Amino acid sequence: MNKKTLLITGGAGFIGSHVVRRFVNEYPDYLIVNLDKLTYAGNLENLKDEENSPNYLFVKGDITDAAFLETLFNQYQFDGVIHLAAESHVDRSISNPMEFVMTNVVGTVNLLNMCKMIWNGQYENKLFYHVSTDEVYGELGDDGKFLETTPYDPNSPYSASKASSDHFVRAYHHTYGLPVKISNCSNNYGSHHFPEKLIPLMIHNILNMKPLPVYGKGENVRDWLFVVDHARAIDVIFHQGKMGDTYNIGGNNEWKNIDLVKLLCQLMDSKLGREEGTSEKLIHYVTDRAGHDFRYAIDAGKLMNELGWQPSVTFEQGLEKTVEWYLSNQEWLTHVTSGAYKNYYQQMYSNR
Ligand code: NAD
Ligand code: TYD
Repeated sequence: MNKKTLLITGGAGFIGSHVVRRFVNEYPDYLIVNLDKLTYAGNLENLKDEENSPNYLFVKGDITDAAFLETLFNQYQFDGVIHLAAESHVDRSISNPMEFVMTNVVGTVNLLNMCKMIWNGQYENKLFYHVSTDEVYGELGDDGKFLETTPYDPNSPYSASKASSDHFVRAYHHTYGLPVKISNCSNNYGSHHFPEKLIPLMIHNILNMKPLPVYGKGENVRDWLFVVDHARAIDVIFHQGKMGDTYNIGGNNEWKNIDLVKLLCQLMDSKLGREEGTSEKLIHYVTDRAGHDFRYAIDAGKLMNELGWQPSVTFEQGLEKTVEWYLSNQEWLTHVTSGAYKNYYQQMYSNR
């Protein structure tokens, strides 16, 4: 008998796969159900190591489909939901905002309605955990950091859709008493990251001696956290965080994009045995992103002081592990860039 049945949405994506791995391994008495639509960003190869775990199962489905969700929730009577499924790439949100409204806003409200339906006011030991981003707070100038009390000021269609979903989660707590927690995290990096985002894209292009597109002057600043530490923070907040509260998660690790790209170039040159400076020659300044937020930085003091969470690795250690992973898993990268990862679902799950 499983002690808890948890739904993790978006578990085939980058962060979701790390959260699934953590919960499956740390909590063998929980049944973990991973619900994912397998969009371009969803890749079951991310969880190859877990697919035969006895307390894990995968369900393919779309959180915008309320009828499908109703059947699923009635079947499993989940005790908790950790909600990561989302459209997550700012550049895609600029070209196709409606997809972000559907998944990030409508999908989230569907899930809230399902929790309200099956829990029916019996909220003891129940939790809806919403995974969000620091981008909801807008952009910073040269100084300051985002606190949990910073007013929302989203600038991109992506961050506007995430901000909207956060508001709905909060509103369901306030209006219906639904037990919820929200976390807002800074930029993540690590293994299994789709190579459309800055760090995996640069690693892929350096490896293949392709141009390294740096937006604008490369002066924008992001605050980077190792994805395994994000998954650890979600675990800590899920189990020990205060009901109805928001927690900011970040690694106190700000980098200008251009400095980070140069660091990656140096690291990769040394790993690949290339002459120093080879990869930096690939840097190519391109037209800036429309409405490009200048700087993000998280104050994670509340999480650290109240719940005792700390990052487990320094940026140097995390980046080294990340680059090592991509170099040792070039097949993963090739499958993602060629589209071959899409066949994996067919092979593994078509007859289940
Ligand atoms: P990702 O794009 O790698 O993964 C998203 C996953 O959601 C994919 O597996 C995709 O198939 C799935 N999905 C998309 N639409 C769906 C739908 N309609 N129904 C079911 N599944 C669907 O994203 P990520 O980077 O892993 O981000 C996960 C969550 O964390 C998101 O909510 C994002 O806003 C948040 N977040 C990300 C970062 C970051 O740096 N990547 C930082 C803070 C917060
Ligand atoms: P990204 O990884 O898309 O995350 P986000 O926009 O959610 O912070 O981008 C991180 C930073 O890197 C952002 O300032 C945009 C910049 N960037 C580039 O300069 N070149 C690129 O090719 C990409 C994908 C991003």
